[in-house]
Amino acid sequence: MRIFSGIQPTGRKHLGNYIGAIRQYVAGQERAADGESIYCIVDLHALSVAYDPAELRERLYDTTAILIAAGLDPGRCVLFRQSDVREHTELTWLLSAVTAHGDLNRMTQFKDKSAKQRELVSAALFLYPVLQAADVLAYKADEVPVGDDQRQHVELMREIARRFNERFAPDTPILVEPEHRIPEIGGRVMDLQDPTMKMSTTGGTGQGTVLVLDPEDVVRKKVMSAVTDSGSEVVRGTGKEGIGNLIEVLSVIREVEPEAIEHEFEGFGYGDFKRAVADGVVDYLAPVRERYDQLRADEDELEAILAGGAEKARAIAAPTVAEVRDAMGVGPPRG
Ligand code: TYM
Repeated sequence: MRIFSGIQPTGRKHLGNYIGAIRQYVAGQERAADGESIYCIVDLHALSVAYDPAELRERLYDTTAILIAAGLDPGRCVLFRQSDVREHTELTWLLSAVTAHGDLNRMTQFKDKSAKQRELVSAALFLYPVLQAADVLAYKADEVPVGDDQRQHVELMREIARRFNERFAPDTPILVEPEHRIPEIGGRVMDLQDPTMKMSTTGGTGQGTVLVLDPEDVVRKKVMSAVTDSGSEVVRGTGKEGIGNLIEVLSVIREVEPEAIEHEFEGFGYGDFKRAVADGVVDYLAPVRERYDQLRADEDELEAILAGGAEKARAIAAPTVAEVRDAMGVGPPRG
């Protein structure tokens, strides 16, 4: 079983990324054999919207250090920077030949993000899901741990793999159709100030987004000022999206069912409950923040880790791309 996932080096990583994805990456590293869980920091995806080149490098180091601080061990998993493995871009072009324009047009993330671009809606934004498909398919990964917002992208990569195999490798399939792994609880952490939208550094509110690296007092403040409703019961339900979101967050942190949280807080008010959530989130993120500072300070070491990861990644991706080229009749025949 092989696991692959990608994370953007843009913005600052938040509790939604942590609960929906990063936590699962670490669990994946534990479940898979050494070298069979592969995590990629997708700097090329970040070029699809307006960005600052110098900042991109900084954020890439931030993200690398967060992932290691969260528990990824570069000795056991493969941790690398997307642009270091050129096979991803080549495979993107090859796969674009079996990707329906209409499918890309239907991607909700493309619609959302393109509506937000002020100056340029780039072709890169449109092709974003093909690069994402290439990321995963190059490794013939079986599983893709992601948050709920990536469901449609994983569905598309399955479709691309299917169409490629049907057209170019009908007898012995070359590409693997991966399964998404979206957590049932915590797959979509909502903004604390506006629980009708997902937590996000680009689309959400600043106050409603808990950053992994926020200092303790900031985390507390954000959780304590989370929007709730006029009721008083700590239960999930319609009209109780704010409380429901906090219940889910605490249930993930405590590793219990949401029902157990509802039961525990029967008869308590929102204030007590929010204090418990704030304590939980602070304790959950504190060790990551502590390890982060030390890791982030040594950029040479981070570069060395990424270079080692890229070498391992290339050794897996290059043979796949060679097979795909050959099946598509590109380049000289293979011996
Ligand atoms: P990115 O960097 O936006 O997000 C990283 C991961 O965090 C998850 N996530 C959330 N989960 C729960 N609640 C939230 N509020 C929340 N916000 C974000 C995302 O679902 C994601 O898993 N397109 C991908 C990056 C990518 C990729 C890949 C993923 C590139 N290539 C190949 C998987 C496989 C993205 O934008 O992630």
